[in-house]
Amino acid sequence: EESKSIVLVEDNSLPKAIKAKISQLTEHRSKRVRVAGWVHRLRQQKDITFLTLRDGTGYLQVVLQGRVNQTYHALTLTLESTVELVGTLQVVPEGKTAPGGHELVVDYWQLVGAAPGADDAFTNRLNERTNPSIQADLRHLVIRGETASAVLRLRSALLTAFRQTYAKHSILEVNPPCLVQTMVEGGATLFKLNYYGQDAFLTQSSQLYLETCLPSLGDVFCVQESFRAENSHTRRHLSEYTHLEGELGFINFDDLMTHIEAVICESVDILLADPTSAALIKQLNPKFQAPSRPFLRISYVDAITWLNEHGIKRPEEDKDGNPIKDENGKDVMVDHAVGDDIAEAAERQMTDIIGKPVFLYGFPVELKAFYMKKMPKEEGSDLVFTESCDLLMPNVGEIVGGSMRIDDYDELIAAYKREGIDPSGYYWYTDQRKYGTCTHGGYGMGVERLLAWLADRYTVRECSLYPRWPERATP
Ligand code: 4AD
Repeated sequence: EESKSIVLVEDNSLPKAIKAKISQLTEHRSKRVRVAGWVHRLRQQKDITFLTLRDGTGYLQVVLQGRVNQTYHALTLTLESTVELVGTLQVVPEGKTAPGGHELVVDYWQLVGAAPGADDAFTNRLNERTNPSIQADLRHLVIRGETASAVLRLRSALLTAFRQTYAKHSILEVNPPCLVQTMVEGGATLFKLNYYGQDAFLTQSSQLYLETCLPSLGDVFCVQESFRAENSHTRRHLSEYTHLEGELGFINFDDLMTHIEAVICESVDILLADPTSAALIKQLNPKFQAPSRPFLRISYVDAITWLNEHGIKRPEEDKDGNPIKDENGKDVMVDHAVGDDIAEAAERQMTDIIGKPVFLYGFPVELKAFYMKKMPKEEGSDLVFTESCDLLMPNVGEIVGGSMRIDDYDELIAAYKREGIDPSGYYWYTDQRKYGTCTHGGYGMGVERLLAWLADRYTVRECSLYPRWPERATP
């Protein structure tokens, strides 16, 4: 009863408090500061309350003692409540640790928004034992956690680092549309929608648009959502993902792979050179080491040999592409042959054994998209390969897909025909081959996959703010 009557009043005779975010506090040590945020951790003892405040920029250890610890709100404080705190920032005594090396000794505070306790308390709704499907429903609360927010923070730093790298290479950022009427990577994975009575799709890749920018803006890149209606419940497939794509003019295939390697390595170097992002990498992936250059390059044909030498097989399929089962209901496994797709499982085993980034290049034309430039045909072989490459990373597999593009008008028309594509909707793309063609190539990188590699996450779902996968578009 007595404590309920304690009303705190800010003491105006004290020095004026400086309003600051937690990440900026070091410069205000020994001064009076005002910070606001969420109660991240809470330890209440008889005469003293220790709490950790979270404001999105960092964590701050806070001490409530004396009158400020005796109010009704202090006695009933709950996790995830919002508070505004005013006090003096003190360096923690020798031998004690706290985030930032200091703690706030509060002389005045206010409750802003109380979070419920009891049954509806935050930790009752979400904790380590919450099952994955409920965690997915509660993604908006999961992202308040230390690990999830560190991943998102690193994601932001990663995109900034890439933008810096592109600027250094004089590659311009553009913003292609999401609503499109052409496909890039095959009709099977398109999300179709009714667009004022016409068919339209959510973009699978901005590549074709980037190609049209070369004559206008020179080399370009974009960071755009791509959409894939893939019924894949794997660790690395999303229905919507952030696609970082680049397109470069007047280059050859070797230049393309060297460039991909350079933008990744230079961006990783930027992250490691920055204390904040380096700390995030250390927190999430303590064993991380910047990859050394050049990356290994293995041709598709050599990769098939490698898989067979390492006993990595593929499920045998019937003519409809369904796996053939043995009498125990298990997949019948067979050796890989040139012409086979290297499926996710085999690719993953391969990258895990190799243990470092590797380019697979030169895939057969049948396995790849219509726009890819062909390699010169080898004598005595009727297989045709493309100037295409996938970059594979340990623990994730393919994170980049790139290629040189067909630069000849007639060859492009033939490619539409081969793939059964009606060229009329592609008139603007075909015009690029008509009005001053050039050798060019580009690539797309799955940002969530790159982050899964960098931050050592089990699945790309942890690397997206609000991941979408089959049947999941909430929250
Ligand atoms: O290999 P993909 O399909 O290539 C393209 O879309 C090209 N048009 C890109 C280009 O040349 N501009 O996709 C490129 C990358 C993949 O390597 C993978 O990292 C990512 O996009 N990706 C996905 N990430 C998450 N979920 C999915 N369903 C993905 N599909 C592709």
